[in-house]
Amino acid sequence: MAKTVVQFTLNGNPVDVYTEPFRTLLEVVRDDLGLFGSKEGCGTGDCGACTMIVDGKTVNSCLVLIPEVQQASVVTVEGLAVNGHLHPVQQAFIDHSGLQCGFCIPGMLMSAAATVQDNPDATEEEIRIGLAGNLCRCTGYDKIVKAVLAVTQGTQVAPAGEAAAAPSRGKEDLSPVIMFQE
Ligand code: FES
Ligand code: FES
Repeated sequence: MAKTVVQFTLNGNPVDVYTEPFRTLLEVVRDDLGLFGSKEGCGTGDCGACTMIVDGKTVNSCLVLIPEVQQASVVTVEGLAVNGHLHPVQQAFIDHSGLQCGFCIPGMLMSAAATVQDNPDATEEEIRIGLAGNLCRCTGYDKIVKAVLAVTQGTQVAPAGEAAAAPSRGKEDLSPVIMFQE
């Protein structure tokens, strides 16, 4: 099959890829562009490990064919931190031990970031709905939900000591995460 050129922004950086049109966004980002944060769990749209944000909406990148992101804004987990400042949900996952093996975490973080951006005051129920498409085989859901809840309740605080060298952003600074790509 003939190759095609697809242009989009990846974490704010313009990229051009020349590839077969049947390849997925996940394949291109990992194999061609070298960003390995997004994971392939199922490859069939069931686990959420590959979640990215495309034009402000979460997608299962294993189901997105690369031509579908022509001229789009794509954000991966590598794009959540801005200028060395962790996104509030990243810091909250650390502070609340919201991870075990870590395999699901990149996708969880993307869904969590989208959830708090869409609804900065999300309740526990709304957070659980926002994360419903992300499966954790370690079943660490409670700590993950508590972490996101700390962000929406405004109890997530900046780290102290050495960690303050790369401070997290506060709840009031959620919007640039996804919007800065546009
Ligand atoms: S790898 Fe995409 S949803 Fe599981
Ligand atoms: S932390 Fe292991 S799959 Fe979620």
